[in-house]
Amino acid sequence: MDVATNCLLLFTLMNLCFANVPKYQLNDGRRIPALALGTYLGYDKNGAVIPQNNLVRDVILQAIDVGYRHFDTATIYNTEEEIGQAVRIKVAEGAVKREDIFITTKLWNTHHRREDVLKALRESLSKFELNYIDLYLMHWPIGLSEDYSYSDVDYLETWRGLEDAQKLGLVKSIGVSNFNKQQLERLIKEGRVKPAVLQIEIHPQIIQTELVSYAQSQGVVVMGYSPFGSLVMRYGIDFPGPKIDNPTLLEIATKYSKTTPQVVLRWLVDRNIIPIPKTVKYSRLKENINIFDFELTKEEIQKINEFDDETRYTIPSFWQSHRYYPFEKVDNPIPNPFSRS
Ligand SMILES: NC(=O)c1ccc[n+]([C@@H]2O[C@H](COP(=O)([O-])OP(=O)(O)OC[C@H]3O[C@@H](n4cnc5c(N)ncnc54)[C@H](OP(=O)(O)O)[C@@H]3O)[C@@H](O)[C@H]2O)c1
Repeated sequence: MDVATNCLLLFTLMNLCFANVPKYQLNDGRRIPALALGTYLGYDKNGAVIPQNNLVRDVILQAIDVGYRHFDTATIYNTEEEIGQAVRIKVAEGAVKREDIFITTKLWNTHHRREDVLKALRESLSKFELNYIDLYLMHWPIGLSEDYSYSDVDYLETWRGLEDAQKLGLVKSIGVSNFNKQQLERLIKEGRVKPAVLQIEIHPQIIQTELVSYAQSQGVVVMGYSPFGSLVMRYGIDFPGPKIDNPTLLEIATKYSKTTPQVVLRWLVDRNIIPIPKTVKYSRLKENINIFDFELTKEEIQKINEFDDETRYTIPSFWQSHRYYPFEKVDNPIPNPFSRS
């Protein structure tokens, strides 16, 4: 075989490999891709970073080329508009159909009253310039008023709003994020529609065994955010914990000719959890999707589980006196970055 044929073959194989993301069945009959690209760019002193120079649009265009079909955003991330642009470009080019793409977005806390849910969702749809969203999540069980003071709207009332949206066909599936076990149990018991998805923080330092087992036993698919945990610097912060060159992770990675970030993503996949790695770099887009051609052993999964020390990186302790705050309370809550006073 000559060099050109070899290259062509390799390129075709790589594309086949990248495109090969399996799907999970949701409890509402729909199917969800087993990997999502995160699009949260972090915070600076002005709040959530606003994407510049079509950064997110261009990343999504590249991501679709390498096989990503699932994008995770939220109203608060400021990335809905550019995701919508990219998807519309790729659909217009004929590269994908709208129904091949799965978009997850999230309702922000200031729109928890039942009638506000539809309003917020319609605003999101107009930013995407799309006529439906695949998955709408309640971002937090915590309701806030317009001025960011606490509102005591029950998340069950908010859930009714999500149920309304699903009935209208504006969203295909509905779910929740950052709910604890008791809150999820209550929602399952008292809601009319069972949540299809639970999105929570999961990485080697917070493996969430109990909550994941409960959700999965109820037929709720789990998505894991911040999957790399302390492995990488995130938004300029270096978190204590296992790093990208951790010897235990390196040993597993070497065995499969993979990188340690790939091993951690595969650890999530092997627990039937959808990882949501975020990157804006083309080489890492390819690296992070190239995880569906190997499988960890039970012993390797257990070795990674042993990093667990219940460390969270998303801790909005400034809301910890809210009646629906989902996490354990800390002694010194951080000042509220959302404070408008
Ligand atoms: N529901 C919620 O409340 C919630 C909360 C937090 C996050 N999320 C979702 O989860 C997504 C991911 O979480 P996250 O952004 O906190 O954390 P993450 O995906 O674990 O980490 C992102 C960081 O890892 C770097 N990175 C990506 N791939 C890499 C690789 N292969 N090797 C080395 N470094 C790599 C990225 O840098 P580069 O971009 O420079 O590559 C970025 O700094 C978010 O974008 C968002 O969609 C949801």
